[in-house]
Amino acid sequence: MAFTMPTNIESRPVTVIGGGTLGRKIALMLSNRGGTVRVVDKIPEVREAAKAYVDEMTPTVIKSIDGGKAGTIELFDDMADAVPGSWLVVEAVPEKKDLKVSLFGELDKIADADAILATNSSSYASEEIIGEVEHPERVCNVHFYQPPELPAADLMSCGQTDEQVLPFLKEELAKHGVYGFVAAKKSTGFIFNRIWAAIKRECLSVVADGVSTPQDIDQMWMINFGMSWGPFQLMDKVGLDVVRDIELHYMDERPGLPTNTIELLDEYIARGDLGKKSGKGFYDYSQES
Ligand SMILES: NC(=O)c1ccc[n+]([C@@H]2O[C@H](COP(=O)([O-])OP(=O)(O)OC[C@H]3O[C@@H](n4cnc5c(N)ncnc54)[C@H](O)[C@@H]3O)[C@@H](O)[C@H]2O)c1
Repeated sequence: MAFTMPTNIESRPVTVIGGGTLGRKIALMLSNRGGTVRVVDKIPEVREAAKAYVDEMTPTVIKSIDGGKAGTIELFDDMADAVPGSWLVVEAVPEKKDLKVSLFGELDKIADADAILATNSSSYASEEIIGEVEHPERVCNVHFYQPPELPAADLMSCGQTDEQVLPFLKEELAKHGVYGFVAAKKSTGFIFNRIWAAIKRECLSVVADGVSTPQDIDQMWMINFGMSWGPFQLMDKVGLDVVRDIELHYMDERPGLPTNTIELLDEYIARGDLGKKSGKGFYDYSQES
């Protein structure tokens, strides 16, 4: 059936596929006006942790949202049970292209005909993951950062996205305190994430070259820009394995980028130091609750 814009969205759920670092944050934001968000993850502990995170953060987040109200989080292990009925599906599974291609092929089959399908991928243009999709006019990128602290989002067409989809999403997301900016043409890393990738890359290179340390670079960044966090702290929050996958994708596209960034990340990853989620990355979080 041909795609038409979704209707009755107030009474329909949103589904988030993947309840990890970003999936749970997306669920937090999309449930902050009292709606239902279905979180799908194959790992039971991740599902439970995602719900616990939303429960913990919601009282703070809804204070800053016009019409803010705690929503309902429903947990699923199979997306075939969660997706039907949803007006929006946001994919937040690991940054592996093959996984995303087959997942979008499956989503396109099981989603309602008027559902919008968005990928939260940090570096794949949605154009690259529609190989098994019959209705690309409903597929796009919606790239969240780390809401609620970083509430901007990149929006980008897959090249065939219906022209009503991105303006509609921009308007809807703003109601939830997420501010979308549309990349006007295909761009790996969209708008802000592409700029951020260059910053991360040079920071990692400076450390890999033995010029400085993550701690000193973060200190300089905070002093100079008057910010409360530095690039290495943010990479720890993102997850060093995720940072690595993203950089590998840029390296595939642009031969000649430095490889010492990956070598440095590999040292941490080999020790199991993945950042905040494992208790240690560039910083030690083992004493935090
Ligand atoms: N971490 C960040 O700060 C960040 C920021 C913006 C965008 N992203 C993007 O978001 C996506 C997810 O990143 P993340 O950091 O949340 O990863 P993550 O590893 O923390 O979480 C991914 C989750 O997906 C689940 N999963 C894997 N296959 C699945 C499937 N078939 N069905 C359901 N669940 C499945 C895993 O069990 C895992 O819990 C990536 O594309 C990444 O590039 C991440």
